Amino acid sequence: MYGQDIEILKRDYMNLSDEIYFLDTTLRDGEQTPGVALTVDEKIQIAQKLNDLGIDKIEAGFPIASNGEFEACKEIKSLDLDSTVVGLARCVKKDIDSVLDADLDYTHIFIGTSPLHRDYKLKMSKETIISNAVEAVLYAKDHGLSVEFSAEDATRTEKEFLLEFYQSVVDCGIDFINIPDTVGILTPIMTNELISFMKNNFKTPLSVHFHNDFGLATANTLTAIECGANQAHVTVNGMGERTGNCSLEELAVLLHAAYNININIDTSQLYSLSDFVGRLTGVKMPVNKPIVGDNAFAHESGIHVHGILNNSLTYEPISPELVGHNRKIILGKHTGANALKSKLTDYHINLTDEQFEKVFSQIKSLGDKGKCITDDDLKAIALTELGSARETPIKLNGLGLLCGDIVSPTATVKLEIDGVEKETSSIGVGAVDAALKAIGLLIKDTMEIELEEYNLEAINGGTDALADVFVISSDDEGNKSTGRAINDDVVMASVLAVLDSINKLLLIKRNQIN
Ligand code: KIV
Ligand code: ZN
Repeated sequence: MYGQDIEILKRDYMNLSDEIYFLDTTLRDGEQTPGVALTVDEKIQIAQKLNDLGIDKIEAGFPIASNGEFEACKEIKSLDLDSTVVGLARCVKKDIDSVLDADLDYTHIFIGTSPLHRDYKLKMSKETIISNAVEAVLYAKDHGLSVEFSAEDATRTEKEFLLEFYQSVVDCGIDFINIPDTVGILTPIMTNELISFMKNNFKTPLSVHFHNDFGLATANTLTAIECGANQAHVTVNGMGERTGNCSLEELAVLLHAAYNININIDTSQLYSLSDFVGRLTGVKMPVNKPIVGDNAFAHESGIHVHGILNNSLTYEPISPELVGHNRKIILGKHTGANALKSKLTDYHINLTDEQFEKVFSQIKSLGDKGKCITDDDLKAIALTELGSARETPIKLNGLGLLCGDIVSPTATVKLEIDGVEKETSSIGVGAVDAALKAIGLLIKDTMEIELEEYNLEAINGGTDALADVFVISSDDEGNKSTGRAINDDVVMASVLAVLDSINKLLLIKRNQIN
């Protein structure tokens, strides 16, 4: 559905408002993600980036909740951003005073309205809930605040009471009605019904705040907008209580790219913002997260890569540049010849047809063994196939070990480096450590390496298990390479894996392949 079709959809089926506003609540609901706590300074940095992205309103926090929350709201307001800064408040005077003391001029006030919240949380009658809400709104309005009001758990509130409740706060002059789906129980059809009902009953601008408990937050928010909602509450990376809120990235791109709806957001900053927030909060996105996940624009299958190389729209709904992301061609068992050719061209490696076929079948067979082929692996495999790399620069000519509880573990390693045999011994914490230290000593004149990662797994259960060692090494120029070896001896597997990675690094270095 693109181009003209969308115009027909909009005209015949949707009730879209001319402009859709984004209220980002990463700093409030997003920070309620279990295990996440942001410092004032971190909140300021995120607010600045949200402002630069073009977010209309930033919910900076709940000022009454703590000194840090108060300070963050006040500091963010003092930045004089283009975005409106919002502070959360309960229907309690001291909460609203705290919003005022933080110099904010927009508050988001809430109170639970569903039977569950009335009976088990607030222990208040419907009448008391309405009178508390009315009192809070009148107080906030009297003090010059713009007010957005949420009936918490609106979607599990009786429809007649929801209507009566919102009518009472609308009559006090609230500026936005916000509908929270507090535990994410809506479906798109239910959303359509609820938002159409609200639009038919109120002229006040309508906002939605949808949680993602069943994975429908973005779909429901989009439906609300299709039915006339004027504003969406979102969070970066969809962070928030439990399974989070509607994701800023997903909604912004959908509205902009698929529906061609006018939004203020600079979509090209979405990926870097997602990455920044992921690093600050420690909540990394799964690889398959739409728009910002590592695999959002990654392709492995031969058929797909062939299409992508001819025209990226064949297997991408939008280009990665639109959101500031990168396209990745992954090598593995599904790799096609076109993908491999394109990678080799990128690395300026020219192979004959025969050499190409050998590299291609090696990639496939490594993929069949469950191995992920990194770009450095590919370079090393291709270079090995090229005449320049037919010889492995470093070979293991011998390994001797001395172990036991009455001696320091000692390893003697004999290497052939560029045709010259060298031998040395080293002690270590254990046999593996001793052998790797001896290798370090032997190659130190050839290159400096650092072992960044070392993983050991047993392939089958018993005492005769095969050891599968996977390592990542880096050199002094920042090149990294993986190495892997399987052997029935743990020390030998470790030595061979490390030599595998060192040889790859040497090949890369000597051929100056980038
Ligand atoms: O999910 C929710 O109901 C909320 C309220 C504070 C509006 O976050
Ligand atoms: Zn919420």
